[in-house]
Amino acid sequence: MLQVTGLTTSYGPVKALDSVDITAEDGRITAVLGANGAGKSTLLRSISGLVRPSAGQVLLDGKDLVGLSAEKMSGLGLGHVPEGRGVITELTIEENLRLGSLGRRAGSDPVPLERAYELFPVLGERRTAHAEVLSGGERQMLVIGRALVAAPKVLLLDEPSLGLAPRIVAQIFGIVRDLVEREGLTVVLVEQNARSALSIADTGVVLNLGRVITTRPAAELAEDEGLRHAYLGF
Ligand SMILES: Nc1ncnc2c1ncn2[C@@H]1O[C@H](COP(=O)(O)OP(=O)(O)OP(=O)(O)O)[C@@H](O)[C@H]1O
Ligand SMILES: [Mg+2]
Repeated sequence: MLQVTGLTTSYGPVKALDSVDITAEDGRITAVLGANGAGKSTLLRSISGLVRPSAGQVLLDGKDLVGLSAEKMSGLGLGHVPEGRGVITELTIEENLRLGSLGRRAGSDPVPLERAYELFPVLGERRTAHAEVLSGGERQMLVIGRALVAAPKVLLLDEPSLGLAPRIVAQIFGIVRDLVEREGLTVVLVEQNARSALSIADTGVVLNLGRVITTRPAAELAEDEGLRHAYLGF
């Protein structure tokens, strides 16, 4: 279980996260929703060690991660797929995937790259092609695949749906949901696409201006018209 308490992060004078509490239950999807600038990416970066929070705790199975390097976090089973689909375009798909295995969780069995190809056959068909030829959806699959070969216990996904066709979003979200159900993966899914995210999430957290507005079962959030209109844009 990933338990975040009182997490506070500032960029100079801008307080991007203000005492945020979030629990991601094992084998569940927790969706973190909110408008541009709400602090969603800052939350994931503060959890995974890419930025240093000024206060608060990030407990993974009871161990406080704050202050550890991003590499160390990866070795402890925390996978982060940042926004922007950063693949290394000069490397092949297979080489990009292999980079993911370098951050493998300590004590885990090696995950064969074939696992990524099973989940995303389009990557397997083009394994020797340079990543620069991939479409946006395929790049998203590659960065998720690259995170998965590190055998994470908890996967942080930052806006995987951004700019993708609904059909591709449904495919990627379906695969994430399957991993959670079949393999007990724990997911924190950051999305502006609240409707789609809530359709696969167990719990929804609404973030606004760096604060948690509410945490509720996903189905209940999806039915709250007032909240949807005020914060979720649908
Ligand atoms: N590196 C940075 N330096 C200064 N301010 C930053 C930095 N990164 C984010 N911010 C500010 O922190 C706040 C939260 O930004 P963040 O990127 O976490 O929001 P977000 O919810 O992910 O937004 P989006 O949906 O647009 O990705 C914003 O006010 C943003 O301008
Ligand atoms: Mg963001």
